[in-house]
Amino acid sequence: MVIKLIDDRHLARSLRSDVRTGLTASPKQLPPKWFYDSRGSELFEEITRLPEYYPTRTERAILTLRAPEIARITEPKTLVELGSGSSEKTRLLLDAMLNRGTLGAFVPLDVSDAALEAAVAALNQAYPGLSVSGVVGDFVQHLQHLPDGDSRVVAFLGGTIGNLEPAERAAFLTALRAALHDGEWLLLGADLVKDPAVLVPAYDDAAGVTADFNRNVLRVINRELGANFDPYAFEHVALWDPANEWIEMRLRSRSAQSVRIADLDLTVDFAAGEELRTEVSAKFRREGLTAELARAGFELRHWWTDPHDWFGVALAQAVHR
Ligand code: SAH
Ligand code: TRP
Repeated sequence: MVIKLIDDRHLARSLRSDVRTGLTASPKQLPPKWFYDSRGSELFEEITRLPEYYPTRTERAILTLRAPEIARITEPKTLVELGSGSSEKTRLLLDAMLNRGTLGAFVPLDVSDAALEAAVAALNQAYPGLSVSGVVGDFVQHLQHLPDGDSRVVAFLGGTIGNLEPAERAAFLTALRAALHDGEWLLLGADLVKDPAVLVPAYDDAAGVTADFNRNVLRVINRELGANFDPYAFEHVALWDPANEWIEMRLRSRSAQSVRIADLDLTVDFAAGEELRTEVSAKFRREGLTAELARAGFELRHWWTDPHDWFGVALAQAVHR
């Protein structure tokens, strides 16, 4: 079963407003959630299998080792997952929590209708005894609509927390804390600060899959808003910003060009070399993340990493405030 907190009309309206605001701003920018139509979600899955993209396999290795411990500590009745995508790694948690005998329901939430429908169908097949209710929603806007309960664990994996900017992140964590009861849990996957020689290729792979993923947002705008972007007139750029400790993804206009967005009755001019920012992916340190969690009302209880310290999995508890 999949329920929709955002219908297609609402989605269309917020895409229009994000595109108008972002493409008339200076510098130009777009929010990352629009990457993920069905092609975008498939391209992301392809990214997770690239040799350069270490986060998925590193987080999976941590979860493989720690899932039984996580299940024992948290003993959830309901597992909620934000930005769930394929929920592929989450199966490690489901297996451990079902083994423990406490889990009755899984609630994956994602803005990508296509990814969610596919994930829910596959999970229903694999876990016939489990109640799986997919929610099409935005984890920035819809946290107050999470199913109520007690003994919930909210998983937010893949380092997706890093795609929120610091102020958005603080608001997100505070809203999530408000949606939980004292004692409930957040399981957070965070990519860690490391050598840029490892970081940058993860966002600029040799096969060009990430470049294609980045350009996909232009295809979404072409299809949904009748625009005439030539995706290949833009070059994929990934760079490490050491001051902010984040990777920034941009699309750089190869030449001076005008793009028409028919449904907005808008013409957007790009100078040669002008860049459109499409995403940040912040990298974390344990101390900083612990402090951010504490400010929002979560206490870090456990912290697991891999042998290289490349990726961190935090288990934090909603505390009384
Ligand atoms: N959790 C998966 C997928 C990570 S990719 C993993 O670890 O591999 C990020 C996922 O978040 C995508 O499935 C995307 O559709 C979803 N997403 C991005 N922005 C979102 C938002 N604002 N609200 C809900 N889902 C969002
Ligand atoms: N949450 C992922 C990350 O920040 C999303 C992602 C991976 C991504 N590769 C990307 C987003 C390339 C845009 C472009 O690692």
